[in-house]
Parts: sequence; structure tokens; C-alpha cells
Amino acid sequence: MSDGLEGVVAADTVLSEVDGHAGRLVIRGHSLDDLAGRATFEAVTHLLWDGFFDDLPRDLAPALGAARAEVFAEVAALDTGLLDRTPIEGMRALTARLADGDDLNTALRLAAAASVFTAAVVRAQAGEAPVAPDMALSHAADTLRMLRGKAAAPAEVAALDTYLVTVSDHGLNASTFAARVIASTLAGLGSAVLGGISALKGPLHGGAPGPVIDMLDAIGRPENARAWIEDALDHGERLMGFGHRVYRVRDPRADALKKAVKRLTDGSNIMPGRLAFAEAVEAAALAILRERKPNRPLDTNVEFYTALLLEALAYPPSAFTCVFATGRVVGWLAHAREQVVGGRLIRPASRYIGPMPLEAA
Ligand code: COA
Repeated sequence: MSDGLEGVVAADTVLSEVDGHAGRLVIRGHSLDDLAGRATFEAVTHLLWDGFFDDLPRDLAPALGAARAEVFAEVAALDTGLLDRTPIEGMRALTARLADGDDLNTALRLAAAASVFTAAVVRAQAGEAPVAPDMALSHAADTLRMLRGKAAAPAEVAALDTYLVTVSDHGLNASTFAARVIASTLAGLGSAVLGGISALKGPLHGGAPGPVIDMLDAIGRPENARAWIEDALDHGERLMGFGHRVYRVRDPRADALKKAVKRLTDGSNIMPGRLAFAEAVEAAALAILRERKPNRPLDTNVEFYTALLLEALAYPPSAFTCVFATGRVVGWLAHAREQVVGGRLIRPASRYIGPMPLEAA
């Protein structure tokens, strides 16, 4: 048995390959470097979904725009009880209202839902009315416009597009595995996505970037980094944004997102000095992790620069995981379809280590 299923191959996939030793991510034959900052989220969604839906249009932008407009009707069901919950719980509750199914329209609605419901929940928590989608915009542009109530600058749209592409798929991570298990029972794409959202929200998976901001804020100044980190590790804490189950070197998504943060903030008045400060904290963390865990390579993962990028885009840290879901949902959907089309019910075995009933005398 492998603890945490580490190293266990549980599916064949044509969708993505995570090479943990080379630090390389391939999405359907393209390296992350070829996609991040170059391809749109709609184009990468097409890349992932190609072959898994019969009626997939070449240009997904209008279909995704129409789906945003369609699911917006559900925002009216956001009751005040949900506003006391975390944004991901609110977004998940609204997503659960959508009809289940296995077709392209269901997939489009689920992909649109993460964007539309996140914006509505974040605005409602700030006491603001929801903003209806604009079908004519790109998914990234409309995602930011619905959040803010006004158009975002092209550089911000480009940064969000890069982020959504960068996190769109990543092998058999915990949320994708959860989605595939559910899809394997033929429960439907909506059920698979709800499982994906639920797995993603944990701090060991997609819930890490909010705490990265807490860590940066608690450290405050570069000269405090070493003492703060040593103290956290002395208290048995983990450093959020570092370490990975598969990567034994730097997560390539960290560099893609660091470049995006640099492009967005260099020469602008967005978060002056924040990137340099984060780099200083990162350098201190890596040095200390190397000293303390010489036999376990621990490097920067996707979440560290996710936190910086989403902070620069003015998302509240409480909503960071929802934005992750906005990108990853298209990967979950592709995996769910791949599982339905070519897979078998996923049903592993367990080893019973409890007591046995007493034999009758
Ligand atoms: N900070 C400090 N120590 C860490 C660490 C971190 N971020 N990540 C792993 N370690 C240490 C563990 O304490 C453990 O040490 P030990 O063997 O002395 O007990 C060792 O490294 C191996 O950790 P393990 O829990 O077996 O690794 P994993 O593959 O199960 O965990 C993560 C992978 C991602 C869950 C883990 O690295 C982590 O918790 N990271 C922080 C949360 C995070 O950034 N999540 C986003 C992932 S993209």
C-alpha cells in the first residue's frame, strides 16, 4: 500500500503530464511555457475538451459568454445565510443548484458558474449588488468586470487569463481525482465538479494562497522573515506555498505566475515593493527548508505567486480558492468526460486492520 496513494498510477490520460523531477507541465502536447501568457483561457479550454464533446464549437468564447448569462439567473437564489460562509462554500451552494448532465451545455454552464457565482458572492459579502455578465467579453475580462462593476485594464485581463490557463489542468491532483471518482459512477458532470470544488478548498490543495498572504502580512518586513519562519516551523507549522507531492524541484507554474505578477506590477502603481518583498520571503523560506529538511526537496509551489497575482488583481484572500476553481473547473470537466468515455468504475480496495467478530463457541 502507498500512503496517500503517492506514486500510484490510477488513470491513463491524454490531458496533462506533471514531470516532478524535470519540473515540467505538459497540457495536451503543449508545454506550460507555450500556453501561459500566449493562449487564451477559451483556447486552452478547447484544447482540453477537444474529442470529449461531439458538438464542440471551434471558438468557445460566445458559448461560454452565453452560459455566463444563463447561470446568472441562479444568483437570485443567494440567500443571506450563505453570506456568513466562505466564498467557496457560497459558490459551491449556487453551483449545486444547476441541473446535472453529461453534455456540452452542462459543461459550459459549470465552467461559467465558477466565474459568475464567485463575483456575485464576493460582491454580496461586501454589500454590493451583483453585476450581470457581458456575453461579448472574454471569460477573463468578464470575470473581473463582474467582480468590480467596471471594466478591468487590458493588463489585468491578460494577467487573469494567464492565471486561469496556468491552473487549468495538472494531472491527477486531489480535486481532479475526486472528480474522476464521481464521474466514474456516471453521476454527471455537475456532481463531479461539486466533488472537485470540495476537495480543492482544503489548505493542503487549493486553499493555500489565502494563508500565503497572512504569512506575508505577519512577516511585514524582509528582515523579519528568517525569525518568523523559524518560529513557525518550530511550532510544527507548514509554510504555505512550499512543497508538493509530485514536484521535487520548483513548480513550473510558480515561474509562469511570477512573470505574470512582474508584467502586471512593473512600472505601475499596483503594490509597489510587494514582489521584491515576497521574493525575499521566498528566498529565506527556501534556505531554511533546505537546512531543516536536507533529504526532502521542498520548493516553491503554484500557490505562492498565485497569492501575489490575485492580490494584485484586488481579489480578497478569502476568494482566492474560488478563482483557482474558475480555472481548474475546465480540467475537472475534461477528466470527468475522459473517465466516462473510456474508463471503468473507480473502486479500490482497503485493508481491514480492525478487530474481527468473536467466533461463536
Ligand atoms: N512546510 C514545512 N514542511 C513541509 C512542507 C511545508 N510547506 N511541506 C512538506 N513539509 C515536510 C513535512 O513536514 C514532512 O516532514 P517530515 O518527513 O519531517 O515529517 C516532509 O516535508 C514530507 O511532507 P509530506 O506531508 O509527506 O508531503 P506531501 O507530499 O504529503 O505533501 C503538500 C504535499 C503540498 C500537502 C505539502 O508540501 C504541504 O502541506 N504544503 C503546504 C501547503 C501548500 O502549499 N499546498 C498547496 C499545494 S500546490
